[in-house]
Amino acid sequence: MPLIQEIDYGTPASSAATMVTLTIDGHEVTVPEGTSIMRAAMVAGIKVPKLCATDMLSAFGSCRLCLVEIEGRGGTPASCTTPVAPGMKVSTTTDRVRHIRRGVMELYLTDHPRDGFTSPVAGNSEFAEAAGLVGLREVRYGTDGVNHLDAKVDDSNPYFQFDPARCIVCSRCVRACEEVQGTFALTVEGRGFASKIVAGQDEPFLTSECVSCGACVQACPTGSLLEKTVVELGQPEHSVVTTCGYCGVGCNFKAEMQGDSVVRMVPWKDGKANHGHSCVKGRFAWGYATHPDRILKPMLRERITDPWREVSWDEAISRVAAEFRRIQAAHGRDTVGAITSSRCTDEETYLVQKLVRAGFGNNNIDTCARVCHSPTGYGLKTTLGTSAGTNDFDSVDQADVVMVIGANPTDGHPVFASRMKRRLREGAKLIVIDPRRIDLVRMPHVEAIYHLPIRPGTNVAVLSALAHVIVTEGLVNEAYVRERCEPDAFADWAAFVAEPRNSPEEVEKLSGVPATLIRDAARLYATGGRSAIYYGLGVTEHSQGSTAVIGLANLAMATGNIGFPGTGVNPLRGQNNVQGSCDMGSFPHELPAYRHISDPAVRAIYERVWGVTLDPEPGLRIPNMLDAAQDGSFRALYVQGEDIAQSDPDTHHVTAGLEAMEFVVVQDLFLNETANYAHVFLPGSTFLEKDGTFINAERRINLVRKAMAPKNGFADWEITQKIANALGLGWHYRHPSEIMDEIAATTPSFAGVSFAKLDELGSVQWPCNEQAPEGTPVMHVGHFVRGKGHFVVTEYIPTDERTGPRFPLLLTTGRILSQYNVGAQTRRTANSLWHEEDLLEIHPHDAEQRGIRDGDWVRLASRSGETSLRARITDRVAPGVVYTTFHHPDTQANVVTTDYSDWATNCPEYKVTAVQVTPTNGLSDWQREYREFAAQSRRVEVVPAK
Ligand code: SF4
Ligand code: SF4
Ligand code: FES
Repeated sequence: MPLIQEIDYGTPASSAATMVTLTIDGHEVTVPEGTSIMRAAMVAGIKVPKLCATDMLSAFGSCRLCLVEIEGRGGTPASCTTPVAPGMKVSTTTDRVRHIRRGVMELYLTDHPRDGFTSPVAGNSEFAEAAGLVGLREVRYGTDGVNHLDAKVDDSNPYFQFDPARCIVCSRCVRACEEVQGTFALTVEGRGFASKIVAGQDEPFLTSECVSCGACVQACPTGSLLEKTVVELGQPEHSVVTTCGYCGVGCNFKAEMQGDSVVRMVPWKDGKANHGHSCVKGRFAWGYATHPDRILKPMLRERITDPWREVSWDEAISRVAAEFRRIQAAHGRDTVGAITSSRCTDEETYLVQKLVRAGFGNNNIDTCARVCHSPTGYGLKTTLGTSAGTNDFDSVDQADVVMVIGANPTDGHPVFASRMKRRLREGAKLIVIDPRRIDLVRMPHVEAIYHLPIRPGTNVAVLSALAHVIVTEGLVNEAYVRERCEPDAFADWAAFVAEPRNSPEEVEKLSGVPATLIRDAARLYATGGRSAIYYGLGVTEHSQGSTAVIGLANLAMATGNIGFPGTGVNPLRGQNNVQGSCDMGSFPHELPAYRHISDPAVRAIYERVWGVTLDPEPGLRIPNMLDAAQDGSFRALYVQGEDIAQSDPDTHHVTAGLEAMEFVVVQDLFLNETANYAHVFLPGSTFLEKDGTFINAERRINLVRKAMAPKNGFADWEITQKIANALGLGWHYRHPSEIMDEIAATTPSFAGVSFAKLDELGSVQWPCNEQAPEGTPVMHVGHFVRGKGHFVVTEYIPTDERTGPRFPLLLTTGRILSQYNVGAQTRRTANSLWHEEDLLEIHPHDAEQRGIRDGDWVRLASRSGETSLRARITDRVAPGVVYTTFHHPDTQANVVTTDYSDWATNCPEYKVTAVQVTPTNGLSDWQREYREFAAQSRRVEVVPAK
């Protein structure tokens, strides 16, 4: 069990290869060159008192508490800012330094609240510890003079407070905001006695630029910045290391607990994806786990117009099994299916696809990746040989050029964005390709060299134009291509991109991006050193999503930018376990690890272990299930942890499909929008309530550990096992580790994975097997997984979704930092303070033409449908483009998105919808009707469970 107070070495580790030996208090210690004396002392087990130093930040040397004496040198240098030297002899506890430290500490305490051990901060603050370490017994000065003790507490932020009376102006918070988070929201204002910490322009934290990542709170040694939950509940008494349940960055946290209540979530310094950093969601937005809206008892009803009735687990599970069997007997084996969850663990997802294949006897299994990164799987597998990102997050530290396309990392993947921003501050150059001026384009100390404000839907044309420049200007890495790629495919591709129609000048006409910008960006990407591509749903969610992913892989192969740190084609994957849900065989044509269901050798592995005969025919994808429901050939669906009625495109199509089904089972935390069409509701468990693994965007398999018992009684994998057993499958898993053992035994790229190894190493990146027992941070080293890299011609085919007189604007959608996906979790936390509703961003020119003012209600209409929301006027979007999020069911932005989709994977074209925007007075009729319907549908008849 990790310590509540982790070891703090005072200054960051040095990565120097040369080692230095010195003596501290008579102990010999050897550390890398560049290490501080303070850190070397900690390595030798000697704790030097400190206040302004922490190993998350570079040394600062302001508090003067860590002074030491060095033989042969005068004075008392600060151990945090003094590097070690060979043969150095250091004393940390001479009378002289003891005396100085006591004096310093005494002065701090004269202007500090004297609430001793009655304060929740006192028992656990570094400040209290430092006072103890220096041996301070009394404070000789009173509090009569001028001091800061009456300074007003800023409690504007919903999650933490700032008590200036406790502040010693060590500036750890300011430096954390700069160095770790990269937001620069805090400063030290004033000088000497008047100096103080201010947020923004000396304003409340809530209204400042602060993004509530919590880095300042974590850094604060005095409790001046402190979580409100600690103020309320007191200090935690034990902790459990687990993995964030929100996004694909996969941050590790210590869930710090009192009994089975979470007191706070503290980012874990040993977390290999986050290195001790966090964002507002993982750090603070966990209150949904105990929100009163959570459904904790199974419920069922005959018709979707009936109220829900609470029932026992036995009754609910029997009904589920009986209905699936009845429908299959009456209408055929292929009339039922399931959707796995990218929020659930690998083990849970594996079991759902096993249930479908072994229990239902078909391959009607799909997952939410269908609507986000399925083109990544297709595109990277086709070109490189594996359906996942190529590099680890740490790799960005070695990138010279970073290309961000169709992603908004500061909102969508904030902890990785902080890492990227740090690298950019160090001098790496940034290219952004995005229709919006995302924050990265220009923010404190970060500025894109080139921003290509692309017209939505023209990614493929722009990527071919970049390739055109690389090929026609002789910037191809010939040696790399010759050694590592298929020559014929390369020649075909090079001839294609060199055609004049792919020149930047021609593509400018389609994309709106000036040709010179395309040329400059291509030259920088090809010649700027190590170049890394990071991309998101702005690449994949298009009718040519797979083609664009292929285009990115082509660019990286042509310039030799795959197979090394600092390079690669790196998808920033959305949900916490979307990578894992894909890896675990959630697609209708693929068994785990992307092995095709038609392959008899692969089927044989599972047939032997599962004791069944598998159907070799691919099953239905989500959109096909919904279509088939309307023609009667698909009748029953088990949805675990997905809200397709809110998250999938063309809402009317989704809800019509769900409504047409005879039997829908929803397993979730809350009565979500999909549950409005369900007949059985099985309460799900949160990530805090179960063991298992999530896989993040860098293929990292992270352990999820149970911090509290499931409030609904069972983890999700146990519920799926109950259904399987009611269907007669005879499963006997006692713990998710046994499920992982089965995954390892049947999946070559997971062969070396076990819970014991994950416990030992913290995490591993697949492939993890005999060839790579500790995992694979960078893929395609030396050669591509598929053998030779495969270039593919990327013909640009414009989407059928076109603007015209009726729908003259292009809508594109995305995310915001504080909310998450359909908002089911974050809307049930104080994060809604930052984003209460979805807004439509519109350019001032387009707004003026339509007589729309900031904050006005507008009607957003497309060929698929219409919805109403409020407008935000901003030049972050280009003229002709509007943008919104889809976090709120009241807006249901997906009512307007169309059913156009990627040609290869059916991934919906969320990013391009032709729309019109007109002023209106409030919610539209269907929104009001839907509110009523949803309220009706959520009625629960209070009949006690049997
Ligand atoms: S708020 Fe905390 S971290 Fe910031 S300067 Fe004050 S004592 Fe230091
Ligand atoms: S970046 Fe993602 S994984 Fe990390 S804390 Fe935020 S939401 Fe969680
Ligand atoms: S810890 Fe070294 S000067 Fe503050």
